Amino acid sequence: MEVVIAPAEELAVLAADAVEALLRRRADAVLGLATGSSPLAVYDELARRHAADALSFDQARGFMLDEYVGLPADHPERYRNVIATEIAERVDWPADQVRGPDGLAEDLAAACADYERAIAAAGGIDLQILGIGTDGHIAFNEPGSSLASRTRIKTLTRQTRIDNARFFGDDVDLVPTHCLTQGLGTIMDARHLVLLATGRHKAEAVHQLVEGPVSAMWPATVMQLHPHATVLVDEAAASRLQLAAYYRQTYDAKPDWQGL
Ligand code: GLP
Repeated sequence: MEVVIAPAEELAVLAADAVEALLRRRADAVLGLATGSSPLAVYDELARRHAADALSFDQARGFMLDEYVGLPADHPERYRNVIATEIAERVDWPADQVRGPDGLAEDLAAACADYERAIAAAGGIDLQILGIGTDGHIAFNEPGSSLASRTRIKTLTRQTRIDNARFFGDDVDLVPTHCLTQGLGTIMDARHLVLLATGRHKAEAVHQLVEGPVSAMWPATVMQLHPHATVLVDEAAASRLQLAAYYRQTYDAKPDWQGL
């Protein structure tokens, strides 16, 4: 696991560099897309590069991490709409090449199985962008999630609904109670994981993710078992890391050619 501690603007540039390098190498690469605030600066940077440097998404495929169950199709907080607004429609990404689990399906279990098949049929995810919840969730894999889980329905914790209430006019009761989410096993199949976290409220989750024991109580800790995981954090999110000095020293001494 590589930990990079840098100002938030630099983190977004680093993540965008990794996406750009992948797309320039393979135009039809498969990207894993996260919602929440953490990846927004990355999407801004990618949209800027699309406009300024002709970075193209026209052959790329995208798979979202998760989706709320039951939000109306035109709801602005439906993750499909969020991803369309924040990235897909700002670049040349054909709508039918970006998919998410179908939170409006009549048969939710079948929709989850379909989603797993679609990811596999695309050849798996090359680069997965991730954020982390204050309780250590990635996607919507809440504490207690099986470390081997696949896409499925989950119940959101009260804390996650409180955290996300800011997207629903600060009314926690408007935040859905259920979601469909890629499982931890699904996420672990991606070839490169790039997680972004900023702010002191993420410091404990980041400490557990990088330095805690691997445990379903802190689901993101499963990333310690991934061969290519990158954790991009600002000073505040890094403030509880015990080996911060070592991570800085390692990154400073890193050869330029290595990339993330
Ligand atoms: C949300 C999303 C996650 C996201 C996390 C953190 O609930 N389902 O994918 O990583 O919570 O969100 P934020 O980046 O806004 O702090």
